[in-house]
Amino acid sequence: MTDLIEPGELLFNPFAPGFFENPYEQYKMLRDEDPVQEHPLGFWFVSRYEDVSALLKAGLSVDVANLAEGPFAEQLGYFAAEEDAGALNRSMLDRDPPDHTRLRSLVTKVFTRRAVAALEPKIAGLVDAALDRMAEKGASDLVEELAFPLPFAVISEMLGMPPTDHSRIRELSGTLVRSLEIVADEDTARAITAADAELTGITREVIAWKREHPADDLLTALIAAEHDGQVLDGDELVAQVVLLYVAGHETTVNLIANGVNALLRNPDQLALLRERPDLAANAVEEFLRYDSPVQQTRRVTTEAYPVAGKEIPAGTFVLACLGSANRDERFFGPDADRLRLDRAEARHQVSFGAGPHHCLGAALARLEGQVAVSRLVQRFPELGFAGDLEWNGRINLRGPAKFPVTVRA
Ligand code: HEM
Repeated sequence: MTDLIEPGELLFNPFAPGFFENPYEQYKMLRDEDPVQEHPLGFWFVSRYEDVSALLKAGLSVDVANLAEGPFAEQLGYFAAEEDAGALNRSMLDRDPPDHTRLRSLVTKVFTRRAVAALEPKIAGLVDAALDRMAEKGASDLVEELAFPLPFAVISEMLGMPPTDHSRIRELSGTLVRSLEIVADEDTARAITAADAELTGITREVIAWKREHPADDLLTALIAAEHDGQVLDGDELVAQVVLLYVAGHETTVNLIANGVNALLRNPDQLALLRERPDLAANAVEEFLRYDSPVQQTRRVTTEAYPVAGKEIPAGTFVLACLGSANRDERFFGPDADRLRLDRAEARHQVSFGAGPHHCLGAALARLEGQVAVSRLVQRFPELGFAGDLEWNGRINLRGPAKFPVTVRA
């Protein structure tokens, strides 16, 4: 598919050299030159803040069944068409009303703000234990020690996952999230479908186990909801659990790691945060804006959608580029490319999406980000890079795969 992109053309091209190190130059050119781009790969790419924000709030479909025929529909259809398809396309993220409303309200009932706020001491304890390990080692990997294990432990505990070896699950969910981006070749598409099927199988077993071991946790509450009102069928239950589990850790890892990366590259801002711990909440908004953990979200038009003097036809897959919108100087001002922890408009970032699908885990992600980054920078005055950071090579869930740090001078 990638050979449809001619070198030198001004197109959204995540396969261009240097994209993972810095996608923001390309986004800027697109915002300036072609902010609503009809892409030869068969989707449209929207990159300005105002258009992204309006698009997300417009209540468009997210169901790929509404796509008109074309190369992109084929790629997405591949995930959906498998006989024993797993959880993909069945979670609330991929459903329209009335299914979306029903599924979301059910999960909102058990995933309350109060339940999240009550987790703060637990999160602080997990962070401090990770920092103790880092202090002991001197040099270590930030992703391995803190950014990944924290959200993984928190969502596993909230759901009440059984205590098993999680390394396979980590591998599978790492593959599964590639379904959220443009897939360059059929091998990757096949790997995603296989990961989906395996993770679905594991989740079915977990649910069966939980039926025998009910407790005060999200899984038990979701299972109970299924029995009470018959509002979740078996496959739907599996799909919502996979979504919560995967979304619960594959995103917040990037918030923490991208945030610390931004701080280490901007020592004045790191010093500011140490001086003014009261900036922690706004700092997290600025991390979300500056190097967004989720770079894109998607919609499908069911009728012609007018935007910025163009008209996106019905049946089109539209990528709303959150990472680009968050750097739009038309909204954030001429210094939009600078990290500024005291930026008042940072809270208007669109990293959690907007409208009916606005992220259900936003409060949890913010809390984990604040506790982790504040404690890390206060505890280690000598925090610094201990080698080169390596990006994870993901177009959408952007973050480091390797992040060597030292906590000693
Ligand atoms: C949806 C981002 C953490 C659960 C979304 C969407 C985005 C997003 C962009 C789609 C919004 C749209 O299309 O309008 C993020 C980011 C996170 C994060 C950047 C961390 C920094 C979490 C966590 C959880 C979670 C921790 C749960 C434990 C969900 C769910 C949805 C969702 C369930 C689907 C909502 C729906 O379709 O109605 N998230 N997320 N997310 N997120 Fe998150």
